[in-house]
Amino acid sequence: METSGERAGNTVSFWERTAKKFQSAPLKENLNADVCVVGAGIAGVTMAYLLARENRQVVLIDDGPLGGGMTGRTTAQFVTLVDDGYDKIEKLLGEECARLCAESQIAAIDRVEAIVNAEKIDCDFERVDGYLFLPPGGSVTDLKRELDAIHCAGLPDVERVDRVPIGKFNTDGVLRIPRQAQFHPLKYLNVLAQRIVDLGGRIFTGTRVVKVEDGERVKIETSDGHTIIAKAAVVATNCPINDRLVIHSKQAPYATYVVGLRVSHETEHSILWDTAMTAEDEKQKLGPIPYHYIRFARDEQGDVLIVGGEDHKSGQASDCEQRFAKLERWTREHFPFVGEVTDRWSGQVMEPVDGVAYIGRNPGEKNVYVVTGDSGNGMTHGTIAGMLIVDLIAGRENPWTKLYDPARKTLKPAVIADYIAENTNVAAQLRDYVTPGDEPSADKIKNGEGAILRDGVKKIAAYRDEKGALHKFSAVCPHLKCIVRWDSCEKTWDCPCHGSRFDALGRVLNGPAITDLQPLDAANQA
Ligand SMILES: Cc1cc2nc3c(=O)[nH]c(=O)nc-3n(C[C@H](O)[C@H](O)[C@H](O)COP(=O)(O)OP(=O)(O)OC[C@H]3O[C@@H](n4cnc5c(N)ncnc54)[C@H](O)[C@@H]3O)c2cc1C
Ligand code: FES
Repeated sequence: METSGERAGNTVSFWERTAKKFQSAPLKENLNADVCVVGAGIAGVTMAYLLARENRQVVLIDDGPLGGGMTGRTTAQFVTLVDDGYDKIEKLLGEECARLCAESQIAAIDRVEAIVNAEKIDCDFERVDGYLFLPPGGSVTDLKRELDAIHCAGLPDVERVDRVPIGKFNTDGVLRIPRQAQFHPLKYLNVLAQRIVDLGGRIFTGTRVVKVEDGERVKIETSDGHTIIAKAAVVATNCPINDRLVIHSKQAPYATYVVGLRVSHETEHSILWDTAMTAEDEKQKLGPIPYHYIRFARDEQGDVLIVGGEDHKSGQASDCEQRFAKLERWTREHFPFVGEVTDRWSGQVMEPVDGVAYIGRNPGEKNVYVVTGDSGNGMTHGTIAGMLIVDLIAGRENPWTKLYDPARKTLKPAVIADYIAENTNVAAQLRDYVTPGDEPSADKIKNGEGAILRDGVKKIAAYRDEKGALHKFSAVCPHLKCIVRWDSCEKTWDCPCHGSRFDALGRVLNGPAITDLQPLDAANQA
């Protein structure tokens, strides 16, 4: 097993298969800096790059390599439409917020394009048309309402068209959204990392941060006992590691799945996504929609069609193989020209309760900033975070400050209903303390598999490695004590509450937890 530090799961994404990740030495001393950025995905790397460009002494830290989190497992589509739709944002936050939101999404794509051109980054960046389409039975009235809201938000070029230009779709409604974009995320990060270093920034990988303490000088502590003192710190760990509950109660983690299939002939690239939502999702008010998102990417042998979807609340489903199979079936049905499966992987997105990301000053703190709640728009939100937080640190005004403020409260009944539904769902996970284990005993666990066992009143996370040795941990998540669950595709322990994930050997992969699952008994064998 080499998930920890390398990848956020057992599967390998298209990007991980086709590019290496930037690594450097771990931090081995105490440091001073202007800004310490924790987390080197698109948000942290963009931030560190923009800070270095402003001649700030920046230190960028990650406990894995660069892009080892969700940026290495994304599908990297840049879209100006937000996941929850402008109609919802307008209703919840008002017309001006919807307008600012659209403005920031456009500016993010433009900024990435400008960086790619300025730094001459060979990362397969291309502008493409986007198509949003209704699934069978989808509401044309809703689509029309969304189109009105899109226009009102400041995207006049979005138009209704007759059909989706590729694939076999029987749909009553399609929108064409011009000038969207896509790229290879790891190739982009690798060049930015080199530029950060060229500009005098320092990057330390394989270094886990365990504490970020606000003050006139922020104190950042690593698990090896080293300290960085900085004028400001940015926590860009996707799921904040410095917040116990405030932000985690306002967002929810969802797992999402991706398959890549070989394309036999080249097609003009475009990106597509649908608005599929089941009546059950609507009824349960569990936030996002199990929609499909689609793009092309190119490897040495030609094009691969990449299709994502089949979302569910993290740690709350144990049928990953079926989800991959369903996605593959759906892809073959709609794109009959695809051949063999080249890639499959999954990851996690954080869904904010009011549809807008949390980017800015950490609630109640002065010099610590966070970026999270990206939903499926992490490429633009990560870039917006770089632009916005760099302004905040410099004391410059930024028109998007209020919109993305992590401390904002939205008191609309629909937001409160979602907030209650998500937090009731979290509370319901505590029933795991009284349910039986997945298996009656460790003997039943096959090599390379894991299961939750019951030992009296305790729940144990047990993993049998490929050689047959059993590794046992407390199944209690070190964040707020929910019981983790086994993901047999990624070979991870996933917390069903706020998004913490651990590799098979209990090592924390992403926050809010900052410590590993507690190993049980010294030998840790049975
Ligand atoms: C399958 C999938 C498809 C997606 N598709 C799209 C898409 O098409 N378009 C789009 O816009 N968005 C998409 N998203 C969302 C997007 O990929 C993410 O929102 C985005 O990559 C998050 O970037 P980030 O920099 O915030 O976090 P990450 O990339 O997760 O980076 C966080 C980093 O923090 C590090 N870290 C964590 N804890 C610590 C610690 N204690 N100490 C030090 N370092 C730490 C991690 O190692 C990691 O490298 C998708 C997501 C998934 C999973
Ligand atoms: S992530 Fe909060 S309890 Fe596990």
